[in-house]
Amino acid sequence: MRTPHAGAEATNAADALIDIRGVTKSYFSGGVETRVLFGIDLAVPRGDFLAVMGQSGSGKSTLMNIFGCLDQATGGSYFLDGVDTLTLSRAELATIRNRTIGFVFQSFNLIKRMSVAENVALPLIYAGVSRARAHAKALVELERVGLKEYARRTPNQLSGGQQQRVAIARALVGDPPLILADEPTGNLDTQTSEEIMRSFQQLNQERGITILLVTHEPDIAAYSKRLMRLKDGHVLYDGPAAEGLREMALSQEAALNLPPISTAAP
Ligand SMILES: Nc1ncnc2c1ncn2[C@@H]1O[C@H](COP(=O)(O)OP(=O)(O)OP(=O)(O)O)[C@@H](O)[C@H]1O
Ligand SMILES: [Mg+2]
Repeated sequence: MRTPHAGAEATNAADALIDIRGVTKSYFSGGVETRVLFGIDLAVPRGDFLAVMGQSGSGKSTLMNIFGCLDQATGGSYFLDGVDTLTLSRAELATIRNRTIGFVFQSFNLIKRMSVAENVALPLIYAGVSRARAHAKALVELERVGLKEYARRTPNQLSGGQQQRVAIARALVGDPPLILADEPTGNLDTQTSEEIMRSFQQLNQERGITILLVTHEPDIAAYSKRLMRLKDGHVLYDGPAAEGLREMALSQEAALNLPPISTAAP
């Protein structure tokens, strides 16, 4: 029998922008299998803001590459915006990727010989939009990130934080509902990182954009609503960010194994 609760869950899963079930991933080289992900379940509803944390090698980038349709899971299912990605051809995957996902990378990945505006317009050019329309939309996105007056410069004439904001404008130029960002503040100083995180927060709150980002920093994860912690390819925690970060701080304190403070007089 189906309980009302189970029914509600099923509806949520269908509405989810990202829905993975039992996702496994192995890499094969020289006949040797390296298992990296061991059955990950995750449903990300529209409007969510999720930070993924975990030690180096825990599988964060592997998972993000699967979300971004840049790599395929070895097992399990992945529905992106209601579409079963495992049934899609390479061309169809590229189409759904372009329509649904904006990518932001740690190293910005801007093209040095192109102007800022040309960089931002590029995804639209690839999608077959005319140069004039793509350029006009690029200027709109640059204005939104406060960099319209930098449109004619080249990326190397900008600071790291400005370059990352250009990359965010580029990610958003095609109006995707989802941003995937793998350590977007990894190359930035603390203050600039906070500025970038406030931009993400604003995009999430004001434009309803769903954000999934990987970070090593609890201070960065604190900007998100939800936290997922990975350990050796398993989900260690999935829930509210504040609670997860508190739990993490406590377990790290315990791991330091500090002796109890002595209250006895010397
Ligand atoms: N192409 C590949 N071939 C073989 N093994 C790989 C490949 N890519 C990743 N791995 C392995 O998968 C595991 C997870 O890697 P992944 O890049 O997802 O980790 P991560 O959590 O993103 O780490 P980091 O914080 O260092 O970026 C690692 O043990 C890595 O060596
Ligand atoms: Mg990584």
